[in-house]
This record gives sequence, structure tokens and C-alpha cells, in this order.
Amino acid sequence: MIKHIDNPNGHFLYIGNTALSCILKISCGKAELLHLGAPLAEEDCEALCGDTLLGWGCDVRYREGDPRSCLDDLPLAWSERGTGDYRETPMELLYEGTDICPDFVYFCSGSLKREELDPVLPHARGAQETVKLVFRSANRLLQGLSLELRFSLFETALVRQTVLINDSDKPLQVTRLMSACADLHGCFTVSTFDGGWIREAHMHTVPVTRSRTVNESTNGFSSNRHNPGFLLSETGAGEDSGVVYGFNLLWSGNHCSSVQRSALGFTRVLQGISPEGLCLDLLPGGRLETPEAVVAWSDRGRNGMMKKMHRFVNACIIPAAWQYRERPVLFNNWEGTTFDFNEAKLLSLAGKAKKIGCELFVLDDGWFGDRDSDTAGLGDYSVNLRKLPNGLEGLSKKVRALGMQFGLWFEPEAVNPDSECFRRHPEWVLSSPGADAFYGRNELLLDLTKPEVRDYIVESVSGILDRAEIQYVKWDMNRHSPVTGNKAYAYILGLYEVLHRIFDPRPQILLEGCASGGNRFDLGMLCFAPQIWASDDTDPIERLEIQDGLFSLYPQSTVGAHISAAPHAQTLRTTPMSTRANVSFFGAFGIELDLDRLKPIEVKELRETVAWYKQHRKAFQFGCFRRNRAEKDALCWQAGDGDETLCGLFHKLIPAGPEIEWLSVNGLDPARIYRVEARPQLLRLAAFGDLLRHVTPVELNADGPALRLADRHYPMRDGGFSAECSGAALRSGIPLSKRFSGTGYDAALRVQGDFGSSVFCIKERT
Ligand code: GLA
Repeated sequence: MIKHIDNPNGHFLYIGNTALSCILKISCGKAELLHLGAPLAEEDCEALCGDTLLGWGCDVRYREGDPRSCLDDLPLAWSERGTGDYRETPMELLYEGTDICPDFVYFCSGSLKREELDPVLPHARGAQETVKLVFRSANRLLQGLSLELRFSLFETALVRQTVLINDSDKPLQVTRLMSACADLHGCFTVSTFDGGWIREAHMHTVPVTRSRTVNESTNGFSSNRHNPGFLLSETGAGEDSGVVYGFNLLWSGNHCSSVQRSALGFTRVLQGISPEGLCLDLLPGGRLETPEAVVAWSDRGRNGMMKKMHRFVNACIIPAAWQYRERPVLFNNWEGTTFDFNEAKLLSLAGKAKKIGCELFVLDDGWFGDRDSDTAGLGDYSVNLRKLPNGLEGLSKKVRALGMQFGLWFEPEAVNPDSECFRRHPEWVLSSPGADAFYGRNELLLDLTKPEVRDYIVESVSGILDRAEIQYVKWDMNRHSPVTGNKAYAYILGLYEVLHRIFDPRPQILLEGCASGGNRFDLGMLCFAPQIWASDDTDPIERLEIQDGLFSLYPQSTVGAHISAAPHAQTLRTTPMSTRANVSFFGAFGIELDLDRLKPIEVKELRETVAWYKQHRKAFQFGCFRRNRAEKDALCWQAGDGDETLCGLFHKLIPAGPEIEWLSVNGLDPARIYRVEARPQLLRLAAFGDLLRHVTPVELNADGPALRLADRHYPMRDGGFSAECSGAALRSGIPLSKRFSGTGYDAALRVQGDFGSSVFCIKERT
């Protein structure tokens, strides 16, 4: 509900539903933020005003004689420099090169119409209600300049946006315009999701203090260094209790958010585009619309907040054609072949992938131009006929004849100097004026601020998509930007235009975003691409941390996650196939290794794995995600959709003589009876190595023909487990079967040394 309330105490705006509420008061013409968080009632408006002593000492009053006009002391939903609020400002305007205070004063409000939204920027869809508050400049020089604060109420989140409209006759420059500003009361910690290439989204938590904490990206993209999403948790909040706010931004470029506690105990939260190097012209007649900023709130800890944020992303961000639509099991050739393939090799992989149960075959990098390594070919779209003599059309037809969909990798934003595109158009390269272009992964970026470059990309990519009947696209981008400020900002708008033009008319194509893994994992890209390749690091133990971080803000279906080879290419870690699968299940699941090199037992294991996964993928991809209690050094992920609940129990390093392990499952009906069943996992005898000597009467070589034969025909089972009990017992925890501890073997034994894991399926007993 959105409601304006006028009474002798002032003008209030109540925005709220059962998930959260936001209460504003117009105080001296400014937007005071009385409340943002718990779903309160409109009757609470007045009590929230309070009667605190404000405006003392050297404080500046916005209106002389009115102590409540000391803006520095009020919680605000917007602020500007020069009005007495000295906290970090969400806006900076220059007039004739000098900082100017427009002094915005409330003018009117109304609902927001779809036509008023910028057609290029991504927007959340399906708001329950919207409202815009319009403020006009009281500065004598800037008459006609106005500010719109937009609020859109969604079922489980609130979305904000800021618009500056220059109907004055003065040219202005904008060096900072945040999407949202909010002053919240309470003591918080802030959790950010940071990292770099192959170590994205690791969660770091620090207390919010009087010093400013900034979460910013400046590499041109939302970045693998600092994801735009972050959490504020009230001191003491945990997985299931306490207040947690989740914040995020629909923007794929440089972003900046900051938190800082004021002297009176308000935490100022700013979210928006990074102001670094930004100086945008706002000419008479012009307007500037920020990206949308999201906030979700829960008093049920991180799990409660995730539930609301995931629901918002699934229902309001993911493109309509892919909302809650199960993603195909994907096979990608990259980690298996890199650039070294031909049609015969691809068809051999596709044939095997089909037998294993994959539904979509993706041809990754290397199919075009002279692309035999990452030094040449980017920017060109002519098919490499040496590798693919029948072209993409020929290959895709054969793949489809196998009964699989066909998908293709592109990196359209980049160019190699060794390419036809660069030789013809060296002027298309993105660089800072007068500066040399700097290389990253041997490539340069194309200048997407130029219309002719955008046309080239749209025409080239669309042509291929239509000719080869492509059903999936992996859109990659593999370097940091060479530009900053205005140019980096305009680049992202250019990218959004290109994505609209290619994919709006082709909604059935499943688009997967990628930027060296997760260098552009954000809500802006998710408005176009229902899933994003989370990381080039596919080691499942590394992935536990990466996916766990991403799940704090993004639902499982958005996180591309594949089984790859062991030992792993980046960590040299050897992990069981079961764990590689169990981690990838909690994501947009796929397989990415050279199937021609697998042993028959591994093929059998993958076939069983994929068949089992397909029966449960709806719950894995769209079920409500949460973290459960687990023992030290272990993680327990849960995804449940009402029909069934899946729990993944993952171990890192195993102690000798471990304690009894318990499985706790949440969200079930305490009175109903459920059946718990472990996913059947294969155990390869070779896992025991020379220990086999102790259990077999004859001396056997761990990697000899006898054991290989036994592995092939008589694979053993690992960790068989089943139980029936009430939802109440599962919530409190049930003991799991014994773990290998130097003892013998039986089918219920969990032979799970380091990096072992299990997945349990919990269904109501019928
Ligand atoms: C990036 C991607 C990988 C793969 C390669 C191809 O690194 O993240 O998944 O597509 O490019 O060059």
C-alpha cells in the first residue's frame, strides 16, 4: 500500500506491505526517512517522529528558529550539501565549475508510469505500487531544476531510483548522483562480497563505525573485486534470527555504496554509480536517470533476507520468458578442449554428452576467425572452416539431430589487434582520449559508445543466431575496462542497448552472462541473462565459498555451476566426482570436461548423476535456499520448493575420529512424517588405494586391471542412508550414518575423506 497522510503534524508518505515498510515525512520541504525495514502500520507514522533534542552547539539549522530543521541530525531519504547536513552526500552538482546547492524543496507526488522509465536502463518488473516525490530547486539560479525520488513497492523488496530533470536555463554538470540514500537506526555490521578472478564473491564482514566503509568497483564493470550487493546485519543477527537488510543495484558498471554511522546513531547508506571520474553534462532540457537500487529486509536473519531477495530476483529481474523455467543440463567444451577441436571432436563430445543426459551442447571460444589461441580473431565472425568445414549451420544441425539444443560462445565487446575487424577499424577501439590502448588477455575493448560499433555487433551476432538456429548464448567479456568516469558509464549504456536489440526480439534464447567468470555478476545483467557463469574456478571446494557468497544475493538458478575435471586446473585439488556434482546441483548445472578421457565407471557415474538431478532440478534451481547448521569446517545448503527439500552436506578437511554428524532440515511441517533418502553415490575401489590389502585376501594393485574391472562391473555404494521421521525431528537434527574411520566397509558407510559430500532428498511420506 502507498498512502499519503496529511495531519497537523505534517505530510507523511506510507509505503508498505507484509514484507517491509518505508515511512517518509516531508520536513521543511525535505524527505525525512522515519523508517525503513519492518512492516509497520500507517498509524505508526506519528510515534516515529519522536521528540528528541536536535540542533545544538554549532549545528546549522535549515530554518532559523526551528530546532527540528537541523538536517544533520535527521534521518533522511535524500540530502544535499550546503543545507546543514554534513554527512556523505548522494549528489554533487557543478555550475560554471563550482559546487552548487540546488536546495530541493518538496513540490508534489504522483504514481510512476512505465513510459517514464528510461528505455535503455534495466528495470525491475511487476511492482505492486509506485510513487514519485518531486522536489523543485529553491536556488534562484536554478529555477526549473527538479529532482524525482522514485519508490516502487514489490512483493518482497523496495526499489528506488533518482532522476534529475533540468528544465532550468543553466547548463549543469553532475559529478555524483546516487540511486538511494537512507539513514537507518541500529548497530550494524556490513558484509561485502569481494575477490578477483577465480576467487569471486568471498564474504567479508566488518562493523559499521564512524569511519566510512566503501564498497566500490572502478574497473569499468560491476567487477569480481566488489559485487554491488551487500548486507547490513544488526549486531547479533545470525542465519535465522535478527535483522538483516540486503542491498543491490541494477547496474553493470562502476558502482559505489557506502555506510557510515553518524554521531546520533544513524547509519547512512548510499547506493549508486561510482562517482570516480564522473562529470556528466546536464544541459537545459536534459535529464539523468540513475540505475534502480533494491533493498530487502528480514528479522529472520540472513536466511530470511535471502528468501525475500531470491524471490524478488526470480520474479522481478529474470527475463519473463525464463522466469521459473527449468534450465537445461548443459555440456560446454571449453575446459575439455580449449581452442583445440574440430567438428569430429565436437561431435564425439556431443554424442557422449547426449548419452550422459545433457540437453544443451555449447561450443565455447575458438570457432571463428584465426582463433587458435587468445591472441587472434576476436572481433571477427567468419567461421573457422579449418575446424568446422560444415560451418556452424552444419555442426548445429548435427547436434540437434542428436536430440540436443545448440549454444554458442561470443565475446562481442572485444577485439584482438590480429583480426580483420581491427585491421579495418582501428578507430573502433575504446581508449582514453590521446592515450595508448592497454591490453588485457591480448585484447582491446570496442567502443560501445559509438553507434557504428553497436550496429556492427548487433548485426554480426544476430545474423549468426538466426542462421545457425542457436538456442543459447554465452556472452563473455574478458578484461577490465581501459576507461573511467563518463566513458565507462556511457559504455554500459551502449552495452544495454546492444543487449536489448539482440535479445528482446529473441526471448527464447537462453543467455548466460560471463566476464572471465564473475567480473560482471549483477542485477543489471540478470535483466537480460537469466544466468551468469559464476567463476572460472570450478574446483568444488573453492566453489563452496564463491556460490555461498553469491547465494546471499542471487538465487541458485542464476549461478552457472559445472562439473569439471580433477585434479583441478587451478588448484590441483583432487575431489570426488560426487562432490563436484553435489556443489554444481545448487546452480544452473552443467558439465565441462573432456568426456573422451573419462573412464567407463566415470561415464556411468555421470549418467546416473544427471538422471538423478533431472528428477530434482526444479527444487535445486528454484526452491527456497537456506543455510543450515553444520559441524565445523562443513557447510549445509538447503533448497526446498514444497514438494521436496534437498540438503547438501559438504566437508572440507576431515578430522580423524570425527564426532557424530547430524542432519538438520528447516521449513518442514513439524507434525508431518518425511522420508529422507541420500542420493546414491558410487564408490570407486581405487579410493582405498593400497589400503585394499587389509580387506581383500589377495594382494591387488590399486590401479591394476583386476580393480579396474571390478570398478567397472561392481561399483560399490557410498553412504546409503534412509530414515523416516517428523518435520520436528528433522528440525532438531537426526544422526547420520557412520563415516569411514579406518574401519571396514558396508553400504551405509560414508567413505568421505577430505572434500566428501552427500545430498539428501526429503519428501513427505505418502
Ligand atoms: C573466459 C570464460 C571461460 C571461457 C574462456 C574462453 O575465461 O570465463 O568460461 O569461455 O573465456 O576463452
